[in-house]
Amino acid sequence: MSLERTLFIVKPDATERNLVGKILAHVEDKGFRLVEARYTRLTREQCQEFYAEHVGKPFFNELVDFMTSAPVMLCCLERENAVAFLRETIGATDPAQAAEGTVRKLFAKSKGANSVHASDSLPSAEREVKLFFGVAALSH
Ligand code: RTP
Ligand code: MG
Repeated sequence: MSLERTLFIVKPDATERNLVGKILAHVEDKGFRLVEARYTRLTREQCQEFYAEHVGKPFFNELVDFMTSAPVMLCCLERENAVAFLRETIGATDPAQAAEGTVRKLFAKSKGANSVHASDSLPSAEREVKLFFGVAALSH
């Protein structure tokens, strides 16, 4: 295992319900350390670049509408094995399928409004951290 950094986002359905503190406390309790954070409203252009792998899919416009509907909390988190462990900590995309005790099981409203994002691989984490926090945020 090695010390890794990954991108975490508290999504609009959660910021609108004042859940930022509770969700960050949950991931801090799992051993993640906050190294960068920014509370901001994303533009449609930023969402399109961020979710480039999903451009053209049937849910894409709905996804961009949702992600731009309210502010998000962008976070770079650090931990041993951070990328895989954060995915485990947030749970399945659809909260109905998410394991007990995961962030999405605890807080998400639906498959679309699912409260949080986590990078899905080390290359994705590097791309996403760089996109929002710059190349300097990649080094330990
Ligand atoms: P994320 O990227 O946000 O962490 O979510 P994920 O890896 O668990 O899921 P992904 O397949 O990357 O999908 C990105 C987001 O698009 C929405 N989605 N809706 N209606 C649908 O079938 C559908 N599929 C995906 C979800 O909000 C998902 O988080
Ligand atoms: Mg994804």
